[in-house]
Amino acid sequence: MFTSQPLSGDKPDQYAQLAAQARALVHGERDRVANAANLSALVAHALPDLNWVGFYFYDGRELVVGPFQGLPACVRIPLERGVCGAAAHTRTTQRVDDVHAFPGHIACDAASRSELVVPLVVGDTLIGVFDLDSPRPARFDADDQAGLEAIARIFEDALR
Ligand code: SME
Repeated sequence: MFTSQPLSGDKPDQYAQLAAQARALVHGERDRVANAANLSALVAHALPDLNWVGFYFYDGRELVVGPFQGLPACVRIPLERGVCGAAAHTRTTQRVDDVHAFPGHIACDAASRSELVVPLVVGDTLIGVFDLDSPRPARFDADDQAGLEAIARIFEDALR
């Protein structure tokens, strides 16, 4: 049984605790749907001010929605569109303080105001993206980016 552990200390401490929980959740499991589902649930319950947390997987042509927590979302995203597409085709994290100011942003949930998207790459292969939306403008700072990139690395490492 999973028991939710409250996070304590400053933000880097909290993310270190969250990473330890994430490692324990995926330990010994390589199935990407299972791991994406559990990591989405873990992060959605642990962090405040999020309205969407989840995964899009690259099918060789575009991004297709995978496991997530939040409102039903856009199913397919071309690599040339949106914050998710930008993260996937540049293979760099996109941290957007105001999604309304991001050209081509795709509004799946009208409540979203800021967004963080981390690309998922194993070896040279694009796997997909890890996407978080917040109803609060500028919800994600550099500590959030580092902490959530660490969660994405844990997901990638479990696939190797
Ligand atoms: N806003 C994203 C689309 C995915 S949803 O936020 C779940 C984008 O612009 O790529």
